[in-house]
Amino acid sequence: MLPLLLLLVSCSKPDPEQGRQNLFLPKDNYVADARRGETIYHDTCVVCHGTRARGSRQGPPLVHSTYHPAHHHDLAFHLAVKNGVKQHHWQFGHMPPVTGVTPEQVSDIVAYIRNEQRKAGID
Ligand code: HEC
Repeated sequence: MLPLLLLLVSCSKPDPEQGRQNLFLPKDNYVADARRGETIYHDTCVVCHGTRARGSRQGPPLVHSTYHPAHHHDLAFHLAVKNGVKQHHWQFGHMPPVTGVTPEQVSDIVAYIRNEQRKAGID
Protein backbone atom coordinates (compact mmCIF):
# COMPACT_ATOMS: atom_id res chain seq x y z
CA MET A 1 0.00 0.00 0.00
CA LEU A 2 2.75 2.44 0.93
CA PRO A 3 4.52 2.40 -2.45
CA LEU A 4 1.20 3.01 -4.17
CA LEU A 5 0.50 5.94 -1.86
CA LEU A 6 3.93 7.38 -2.54
CA LEU A 7 3.34 7.01 -6.25
CA LEU A 8 0.03 8.85 -5.99
CA VAL A 9 1.59 11.63 -3.95
CA SER A 10 4.50 12.05 -6.33
CA CYS A 11 2.15 12.11 -9.32
CA SER A 12 -0.14 14.74 -7.89
CA LYS A 13 2.70 17.18 -7.28
CA PRO A 14 3.81 18.89 -10.49
CA ASP A 15 7.59 18.78 -10.71
CA PRO A 16 8.81 22.07 -12.26
CA GLU A 17 12.01 20.44 -13.51
CA GLN A 18 9.97 17.76 -15.28
CA GLY A 19 7.79 20.49 -16.79
CA ARG A 20 10.87 22.22 -18.17
CA GLN A 21 12.12 18.97 -19.64
CA ASN A 22 8.78 18.34 -21.33
CA LEU A 23 9.00 21.76 -22.94
CA PHE A 24 12.60 21.03 -23.94
CA LEU A 25 13.80 23.95 -21.80
CA PRO A 26 17.23 24.10 -20.16
CA LYS A 27 17.78 23.79 -16.44
CA ASP A 28 16.53 26.82 -14.53
CA ASN A 29 19.97 28.27 -13.70
CA TYR A 30 21.46 27.79 -17.17
CA VAL A 31 23.28 30.85 -18.57
CA ALA A 32 23.12 30.88 -22.37
CA ASP A 33 26.21 31.76 -24.37
CA ALA A 34 25.77 33.42 -27.78
CA ARG A 35 29.25 32.45 -28.97
CA ARG A 36 28.66 28.77 -28.30
CA GLY A 37 25.26 29.26 -29.94
CA GLU A 38 26.86 30.58 -33.11
CA THR A 39 28.92 27.39 -33.44
CA ILE A 40 25.94 25.11 -32.83
CA TYR A 41 23.82 27.19 -35.20
CA HIS A 42 26.41 26.64 -37.91
CA ASP A 43 26.44 22.91 -37.26
CA THR A 44 22.68 22.36 -37.21
CA CYS A 45 20.57 25.24 -38.56
CA VAL A 46 22.64 27.10 -41.15
CA VAL A 47 21.77 24.73 -44.00
CA CYS A 48 18.18 26.01 -43.95
CA HIS A 49 18.23 29.32 -42.08
CA GLY A 50 21.35 30.59 -43.84
CA THR A 51 24.52 32.45 -42.93
CA ARG A 52 23.92 34.72 -39.91
CA ALA A 53 20.31 33.49 -39.99
CA ARG A 54 19.53 35.54 -43.09
CA GLY A 55 17.70 32.66 -44.80
CA SER A 56 18.53 30.27 -47.64
CA ARG A 57 16.72 28.56 -50.47
CA GLN A 58 15.62 25.90 -47.98
CA GLY A 59 14.37 28.00 -45.10
CA PRO A 60 13.38 31.45 -43.88
CA PRO A 61 15.60 34.06 -42.20
CA LEU A 62 15.30 34.03 -38.42
CA VAL A 63 16.68 37.59 -38.42
CA HIS A 64 13.31 38.88 -39.58
CA SER A 65 10.50 40.86 -37.99
CA THR A 66 8.36 37.67 -38.03
CA TYR A 67 10.68 36.25 -35.36
CA HIS A 68 10.80 39.38 -33.22
CA PRO A 69 10.93 38.24 -29.55
CA ALA A 70 7.39 39.55 -29.01
CA HIS A 71 6.07 37.46 -31.93
CA HIS A 72 8.10 34.31 -31.38
CA HIS A 73 9.05 33.82 -27.78
CA ASP A 74 12.18 31.79 -26.96
CA LEU A 75 9.86 28.87 -26.25
CA ALA A 76 9.04 28.78 -29.98
CA PHE A 77 12.69 27.92 -30.68
CA HIS A 78 12.71 25.08 -28.17
CA LEU A 79 9.48 23.65 -29.55
CA ALA A 80 10.62 24.07 -33.16
CA VAL A 81 13.77 22.03 -32.51
CA LYS A 82 11.97 19.38 -30.49
CA ASN A 83 8.84 18.93 -32.63
CA GLY A 84 9.65 20.49 -35.97
CA VAL A 85 7.44 23.16 -37.55
CA LYS A 86 4.56 22.74 -39.96
CA GLN A 87 4.80 25.11 -42.90
CA HIS A 88 2.66 28.13 -42.00
CA HIS A 89 4.52 31.45 -42.46
CA TRP A 90 6.50 30.66 -45.62
CA GLN A 91 6.65 28.37 -48.64
CA PHE A 92 9.73 26.31 -47.77
CA GLY A 93 7.88 23.21 -46.55
CA HIS A 94 7.99 21.82 -43.02
CA MET A 95 10.93 22.05 -40.65
CA PRO A 96 11.76 18.54 -39.40
CA PRO A 97 12.62 18.07 -35.70
CA VAL A 98 16.34 18.52 -35.11
CA THR A 99 17.94 15.71 -33.12
CA GLY A 100 21.24 15.64 -31.25
CA VAL A 101 20.78 19.12 -29.77
CA THR A 102 20.20 19.67 -26.04
CA PRO A 103 17.79 22.27 -24.60
CA GLU A 104 20.84 24.12 -23.27
CA GLN A 105 22.29 24.28 -26.78
CA VAL A 106 18.99 25.66 -28.09
CA SER A 107 19.22 28.43 -25.48
CA ASP A 108 22.72 29.20 -26.75
CA ILE A 109 21.36 29.38 -30.31
CA VAL A 110 18.55 31.70 -29.17
CA ALA A 111 21.12 34.00 -27.52
CA TYR A 112 23.03 34.11 -30.80
CA ILE A 113 19.88 34.79 -32.89
CA ARG A 114 18.68 37.52 -30.50
CA ASN A 115 22.11 39.20 -30.82
CA GLU A 116 21.87 39.09 -34.60
CA GLN A 117 18.32 40.45 -34.44
CA ARG A 118 19.42 43.34 -32.19
CA LYS A 119 22.27 44.19 -34.58
CA ALA A 120 19.67 44.31 -37.38
CA GLY A 121 17.43 46.61 -35.35
CA ILE A 122 14.87 43.90 -34.50
CA ASP A 123 14.38 44.10 -30.74
C1 HEC B 1 15.67 21.25 -43.08
C2 HEC B 1 15.55 22.69 -42.93
C3 HEC B 1 15.59 23.28 -41.55
C4 HEC B 1 16.51 23.11 -40.54
C5 HEC B 1 17.75 22.19 -40.54
C6 HEC B 1 16.13 23.98 -39.46
N1 HEC B 1 14.99 24.66 -39.79
FE1 HEC B 1 13.95 25.96 -38.61
N2 HEC B 1 12.53 26.18 -40.04
C7 HEC B 1 12.58 25.62 -41.30
C8 HEC B 1 11.44 26.09 -42.08
C9 HEC B 1 11.14 25.73 -43.52
C10 HEC B 1 10.69 26.93 -41.22
C11 HEC B 1 9.43 27.75 -41.58
C12 HEC B 1 8.11 27.04 -41.37
C13 HEC B 1 6.99 27.99 -41.70
O1 HEC B 1 6.63 28.82 -40.83
O2 HEC B 1 6.49 27.97 -42.85
C14 HEC B 1 11.41 26.96 -39.94
C15 HEC B 1 10.98 27.67 -38.85
C16 HEC B 1 11.72 27.81 -37.68
C17 HEC B 1 11.29 28.59 -36.54
C18 HEC B 1 9.96 29.32 -36.36
C19 HEC B 1 9.01 28.45 -35.56
C20 HEC B 1 7.61 28.97 -35.45
O3 HEC B 1 7.02 28.80 -34.36
O4 HEC B 1 7.07 29.56 -36.41
C21 HEC B 1 12.31 28.53 -35.63
C22 HEC B 1 12.32 29.20 -34.27
C23 HEC B 1 13.34 27.70 -36.19
N3 HEC B 1 12.95 27.26 -37.44
C24 HEC B 1 14.54 27.42 -35.57
C25 HEC B 1 15.49 26.52 -36.05
C26 HEC B 1 16.69 26.17 -35.33
C27 HEC B 1 17.12 26.77 -34.00
C28 HEC B 1 17.34 25.24 -36.08
C29 HEC B 1 18.63 24.51 -35.77
C30 HEC B 1 18.72 23.84 -34.49
C31 HEC B 1 16.53 25.00 -37.27
N4 HEC B 1 15.42 25.80 -37.21
C32 HEC B 1 16.85 24.10 -38.29
C33 HEC B 1 13.56 24.76 -41.78
C34 HEC B 1 14.63 24.28 -41.06
